[in-house]
Amino acid sequence: MGDVTSPWPTALPQDVRARLEEALAGLPAHRRTTFGLRVARWWPDLVDGLAPYPDPTTLAGHVLEKAAAAYREREDELHLLDERRSLEPDWFQRPGMVGYAAYADRFAPGASGLAGVAQRVGHLKDLGVGYLHLMPLLATREAPNDGGYAVADYRSVRPDLGTMEDLRELARTLRGEGISLCLDLVLNHVAREHPWAVAARAGDEHYRAYFHVFPDRTVPDELERTLPEVFPAFAPGNFTWDDELGGWVWTTFNDYQWDLAWSNPDVFCELADVVLHLANQGVEILRLDAIAFLWKRMGTACQNEPEVHQLTQALRAVAKIAAPSLIFKAEAIVGPNDVVHYLGQGQHHGKVSDLAYHNSLMVQVWSMLASRDSRLATHALGRFPAVPASTSWLTYLRCHDDIGWAIDDDDARAVMAQGWQHRLFLSEFYSGQFEGSTAEGLVFQHNQATGDMRISGTAASLAGLGHALAALDAAVDIDGFEDASHAVDDAVARILLGYAIVYGWGGIPVIWSGDEVAQLNDTSWALTPEHADDNRWAHRPRLDWDRVRDAVEQPSSPTGRVLSGLRHLARVRARLPHLHASVSAEPVAAPDPGVFAVLRRHPVGTMLGLYNVTEQARQVPEWWVRELGQLSLNECVDALNGYPPNRTADGSLYLSTYQPVWLVKASDV
Ligand code: GLC
Repeated sequence: MGDVTSPWPTALPQDVRARLEEALAGLPAHRRTTFGLRVARWWPDLVDGLAPYPDPTTLAGHVLEKAAAAYREREDELHLLDERRSLEPDWFQRPGMVGYAAYADRFAPGASGLAGVAQRVGHLKDLGVGYLHLMPLLATREAPNDGGYAVADYRSVRPDLGTMEDLRELARTLRGEGISLCLDLVLNHVAREHPWAVAARAGDEHYRAYFHVFPDRTVPDELERTLPEVFPAFAPGNFTWDDELGGWVWTTFNDYQWDLAWSNPDVFCELADVVLHLANQGVEILRLDAIAFLWKRMGTACQNEPEVHQLTQALRAVAKIAAPSLIFKAEAIVGPNDVVHYLGQGQHHGKVSDLAYHNSLMVQVWSMLASRDSRLATHALGRFPAVPASTSWLTYLRCHDDIGWAIDDDDARAVMAQGWQHRLFLSEFYSGQFEGSTAEGLVFQHNQATGDMRISGTAASLAGLGHALAALDAAVDIDGFEDASHAVDDAVARILLGYAIVYGWGGIPVIWSGDEVAQLNDTSWALTPEHADDNRWAHRPRLDWDRVRDAVEQPSSPTGRVLSGLRHLARVRARLPHLHASVSAEPVAAPDPGVFAVLRRHPVGTMLGLYNVTEQARQVPEWWVRELGQLSLNECVDALNGYPPNRTADGSLYLSTYQPVWLVKASDV
């Protein structure tokens, strides 16, 4: 029987409790009580999560002292946010949530840095944005720095963008507008120039143990047998010799990104402190960069090891105690059976990340648009294990990274295809090499050994808009003009269809900056010397604000249609409770493989998303909708236009070229 007059858990060692009480001394009584209650709530998760380390209880006590210090420093406004979020834990799952991701310096006009981001909040609000992911903006090593993913100081902002005070100010402004700020937590590696790495290079044994260093090739060679290569073209291998270290250091990504040894409890404590620090700046979502790679084990690919989930659970428990409004987003670009663990399966159910990227959905959308066939997508997405109802997918059509064709061989076989052949087809299709393709992607990291060819390019360029506009410019007669105009319309429709699938899936749909005005590949990407070997910069253009203005002024232009289309999707979405992320999306096989169908059975009513992935008109028979057992065409409206769906003479639902339809019962909306 515990002490019912005390908030502290009985399992908490007395000396830890004494130290925590001391750290909180002077705070108002209600604050101290809240902290104690939170420790009681999360202590078991914290200790369990620290199981990979030799003495979890002592370590947990040590980490709690850091949490108490951060809690003490947390601003009142953020304490208020913590309380508010604990009353609405589904805040990020609601249908009104739309995300946007951008590089601060490529989004803000001119060289206005973080202050310039705040000036453009209106644009975000028009798109319905409630979540803004600003790409790495903490101090990095000098270029090259992998777009900021080589952090040199977790506690300062890149000087060209502003200061920590500017970041706090921006977070506050955004919060006032109902927009939550998301930042990257690059936790697998630091820059070779980070003080920990500098100390290690100077011979400090304590910091040398923050990294995986090997005196010779014996262990690295053995590890390489099972390790994949992330950047085979510009950073082959997973280890880098460093003269100052006098050893081979583990570098999964570039040679200047040194993997942290998470097996060392000191590394856990340092990163837990960084989490708390960022939360206290007003950051509400942390994107756990490259999280799959944290734990290393000989004889494996060193990805998705069980310890990764334990450590995430522990980090989350620390955050829940000091800054519970903070949520985690896993960046784990891994297969379906692995990715669901990042949202919590089994013993970690609901205890790890709140959000995870739905990489497979993104890949399958591009695959359907290329093959004009939904069968593979329906099969592959349909066999995703269920995820906890308290979590959410992050859905997207494009992001700052390349697209790797994550098509599973078994999924391909199930629909009578060959995995390697389909992956090759997609690479050839999106790099424009396939007969009839108008896509203008670039091949990224062709791996000669595996045949893997990833693809860079903006959504608009991959959808063939650049090609179609060029044909329109070059048209010399009326036929040529008409053909090219149709091609432009089709490309615009492909972009909007892709986004309709992404918005209609459930979860947070995230727009990659520039997509809202159909920006094409940046043809000058290679002129920046430090980007010249990395064509991902082709799809990371500066946002063209003139284009945004033109799109607003000319709503029937291609860019105008995309911008108003995305704004419209957000407005419709916000009114549809069916899209709450707690309910899962179920792909169902429509009789016509040219139609991708997604059922969402929410207690308030069912929604059936129908997407024509081809440039021909398609039909969906009335009986098929009826037999799904949830909806009848006679009682439905298409939420996207508010009207009953178009029907053919025999009663079938009619879908025009690339048309999306969101069917719901008229009486439910
Ligand atoms: C993530 C980022 C990617 C970066 C890598 C290494 O995958 O999205 O851009 O190269 O991590 O930090």
